[in-house]
Amino acid sequence: MAGVPVRNDHAALAALLAGAGFIAPVEEADELLAAAAGDAAVLDTLVERRLTGEPLAWITGSVRFCGVEVRVDPGVYVPRWHSEELARRAVERLPVDGTAVDLCTGSGAIARVLTTARPGARVVASDVDARAVACARTNGVEAYAGDLFVPLPQTLEGRVDVVVAVVPYVPTHELPLLQRDTFTFETPLSYDGGPDGAGILRRVLAGSPRFLRRGGALLLELGRDQAEPLGGDLARLGYVDVTVLRDEEGDVRGIEAVLGRRLR
Ligand SMILES: C[S@@+](CC[C@H](N)C(=O)[O-])C[C@H]1O[C@@H](n2cnc3c(N)ncnc32)[C@H](O)[C@@H]1O
Repeated sequence: MAGVPVRNDHAALAALLAGAGFIAPVEEADELLAAAAGDAAVLDTLVERRLTGEPLAWITGSVRFCGVEVRVDPGVYVPRWHSEELARRAVERLPVDGTAVDLCTGSGAIARVLTTARPGARVVASDVDARAVACARTNGVEAYAGDLFVPLPQTLEGRVDVVVAVVPYVPTHELPLLQRDTFTFETPLSYDGGPDGAGILRRVLAGSPRFLRRGGALLLELGRDQAEPLGGDLARLGYVDVTVLRDEEGDVRGIEAVLGRRLR
């Protein structure tokens, strides 16, 4: 760490992190000091890792999401604050004894929030990445490995109250525009949504009616320009009551839709 032992000095550590360009240096210093638990050598190692740009959650081993502690193993997508509203809406849509599916679950963050808020509900998740599935299971999630709906128990068909998903939705040609160090540590598997970014979103729209009950809700995170082009698919597939979800700045962050009729 460039020969600067920060030891257990919170102010020095926060200053070091601020100087390195981290936007929440005080909070990060809190977390790193807590993770080191008073061991100065461990702290130096953790800080060195952080200064390379490695995600903080991989270093500390966890992150808080919707107020819930979620374990995040190295290599697994770190849940983002901007997905919290989608998770909260999914909780609102899930009856106390209902059933939810969290596709592309990553660490299992959304599924864990759902089971925490609705302990009597069944929450099932999937992810194509074996590391993510293992991490989600560590978070107590009933997680299956495979593509979207493929690994889900067939007994769920037509019975699900909520399908929620934060899928990869960045257009392939925009991947180089992501934050500079993104792919030093993370994999395009978490971001790459194909040529227009909406390939996996469309597959989720098409696959959900098989699992949702009539009146069940689909909640999807998506990019700014993606809600409108999906309108035709939503109508054709029998979804109604489509709501475009926006953040505090008014930017489009997701869609919520209800399955009005089952087509098969
Ligand atoms: C953007 S991350 C979201 C993770 C988690 N839902 C969250 O919000 O923290 C997308 C996740 O989708 C998974 N994934 C990508 N393609 C997939 C597919 N075809 N089927 C299932 N999971 C997929 C990736 O492995 C990654 O964990």
